[in-house]
Amino acid sequence: MAEIVIVEDAQAAGELVADAVSALIARKPDAVLGLATGSTPLAVYRALADRAGSLDLGQVSGFALDEYVGLPASHPESYRSVITREVVEPLGLDPDRVHVPDGTVDTIQTAGADYERAIIAAGGIDLQILGVGTDGHIGFNEPGSSFASLTRVKTLTEQTRRDNARFFDSPDDVPMHCITQGLGTILRAEHLVMLAFGEGKAKAVAASVEGPLSAMMPGSAIQLHPHATVVIDEAAASEL
Ligand code: GLP
Repeated sequence: MAEIVIVEDAQAAGELVADAVSALIARKPDAVLGLATGSTPLAVYRALADRAGSLDLGQVSGFALDEYVGLPASHPESYRSVITREVVEPLGLDPDRVHVPDGTVDTIQTAGADYERAIIAAGGIDLQILGVGTDGHIGFNEPGSSFASLTRVKTLTEQTRRDNARFFDSPDDVPMHCITQGLGTILRAEHLVMLAFGEGKAKAVAASVEGPLSAMMPGSAIQLHPHATVVIDEAAASEL
């Protein structure tokens, strides 16, 4: 059973997770962080940016969960751009140590295996930050994803494309495909920290934390992990 922590708001969650990241870096200066995109983890990145002056982040590396396929890395909504803007620059991380799956169409056949190798070469992920989609997806592992899956190309569901349309000029501009760490990849991290805020996430949180293990609810994979922490506000906890 995951450890559940109910906090006042996103800001309090950000401070709490930043405490865990700070403690990890103090213990292990070359810590490897698993980085989620989406609006949910922003509070964590802001809290870490506020402390960047007092943290030694020079040897820290990071691996993003996912990326759109076919969107140029230079597009402002590519996850490469988002991670650069929200994490690498504010925290002052070494950009060469922060990896994002490669969504370039020409090399997509090998990009998943390359990413898995890079994670292993870095010694594995110490702390994986996770959001959760309204349909229970983690990373871009949509319902139907195998618990054993590794980094690979997936088709985005209509609901996820609708959810993410707000970041694009038109809903039609949201890519159809993505490359995402698999549930199996995510489960290899030492510590999982899932965050969720607001009533819209309450059903996905309840199903992930206490529902049956099911490929139709990718978030339920966290129940298989020996060290998973779920940090949520009252609204996201309302269906527990
Ligand atoms: C996105 C990302 C996920 C994220 C989720 C929730 O599509 N690929 O990694 O956790 O959807 O997004 P948000 O935090 O904005 O609600």
